[in-house]
Amino acid sequence: MDHFLYRDGLLHAEDVPLIEIAAEVGTPFYCYSTATLTRHYRLFEEALNGLDHLVCYSVKSLSNQAILRTLAGLGAGMDVVSGGEYRRALAAGVPGEKIVFSGVGKTHEEMAFALTHGIRQFNVESDSELHALSEVAAAMGKRAPVTLRVNPDVDAKTHEKIATGRKEDKFGVPIARARALYAEAARLPGLEVVGVDVHIGSQLTDLAPFEAAFGKIAELTRALRADGHAIRRLDLGGGLGIPYTSSNETPPLPLDYGAMIRRVLGDLDVEIEIEPGRLIAGNAGILVAQVIYLKQGEGRDFLILDAAMNDLIRPAMYGAHHDIVPVVEPCAGIERYPVDIVGPVCESGDTFAKQRLMPPLAAGDLVAFRSAGAYGAVMSSEYNTRPLIPEVLVHQDQYAVIRPRPSFDEIINRDRLPSWL
Ligand code: LLP
Repeated sequence: MDHFLYRDGLLHAEDVPLIEIAAEVGTPFYCYSTATLTRHYRLFEEALNGLDHLVCYSVKSLSNQAILRTLAGLGAGMDVVSGGEYRRALAAGVPGEKIVFSGVGKTHEEMAFALTHGIRQFNVESDSELHALSEVAAAMGKRAPVTLRVNPDVDAKTHEKIATGRKEDKFGVPIARARALYAEAARLPGLEVVGVDVHIGSQLTDLAPFEAAFGKIAELTRALRADGHAIRRLDLGGGLGIPYTSSNETPPLPLDYGAMIRRVLGDLDVEIEIEPGRLIAGNAGILVAQVIYLKQGEGRDFLILDAAMNDLIRPAMYGAHHDIVPVVEPCAGIERYPVDIVGPVCESGDTFAKQRLMPPLAAGDLVAFRSAGAYGAVMSSEYNTRPLIPEVLVHQDQYAVIRPRPSFDEIINRDRLPSWL
């Protein structure tokens, strides 16, 4: 459930009609709902209620500071994957002690920066990173809290590009080598082993792969404890999927996910961390765009929008489906026609939907892409020198621009001409 509903024939974000925001901010823009973010965060809190836990929101899914501050205010920790995300989380007021640092390629500078400003744990992904982190921390007279991200060789049964837990994926250390690497970690002077980490992929619509992976983690935890390691924390990653169409998708609920965690890991006496991104942010955001032209092609019609693949790359990159709905509610029972919905970028890949059934629309009409909160704005670019589109946050009957649209001068003036030109 989200808070983008039709009221009196107009799509609203909570209590604000989207046409009001469009009139002030211009299109295209992203719009987020505080109530939806809050609701989704709380679903995880409820799901893990009674277990010692921390929900570390995955900053990469939607990283605007206003979003981070909203979630931090509810008690969330953060999962970051770069020095930039770490700085964003700090800037939003999240204490270092609630930030976990993931990612396969942390640099020495990123490690040192996080050790200076505080860190809950580094999720280490390789032998080489283990040694690098120990050196950096030891040189600072510190011991870095670490987990090893274990690759359990489980197929998450999701899109090829976002599966991360198979042995051929670049992530984590092979589970068969984990005990040896933990022994190594324990010997290194700059490290303090605190737990085990796993993340098998994103947009999982079935609990079975999670359960298979967590079962292997439980077994490993017992073995590591027998080896003398103080495993007090399990980071289970993110990955729970969301429905992208209003009709027939029913991914597992956070409550069922929580029950499975309890069943598989509940007797281990560990603190549980999870790193959800998409389920918190995905359906808490929409992208609003305007129809620029209708165009009749050979045997098919095109709806040309002012939003493009640079604003929302998911359809072009993963063939992802986003529901696209008119901002003015169509009359009940109105006939729908198949159209290709495209953007103005000079690539055929700049296609949001092919032969999508839509009610009749005209130039100037507004449409909203649903489920665009996660991996929308954060993956956008300025391709074709199209300015990054604004982000707006709604809270009940208020709204605020939380990232303004840059001017063309701001974009163009970032370039520098070398002396010989
Ligand atoms: N933790 C780690 C270590 C991750 O790599 C990810 C996502 C998450 C947590 C959050 O996963 P979530 O709960 O959001 O599924 N751009 C793609 C998704 C990439 C996911 C990358 N890792 C998309 O648009 O579908």
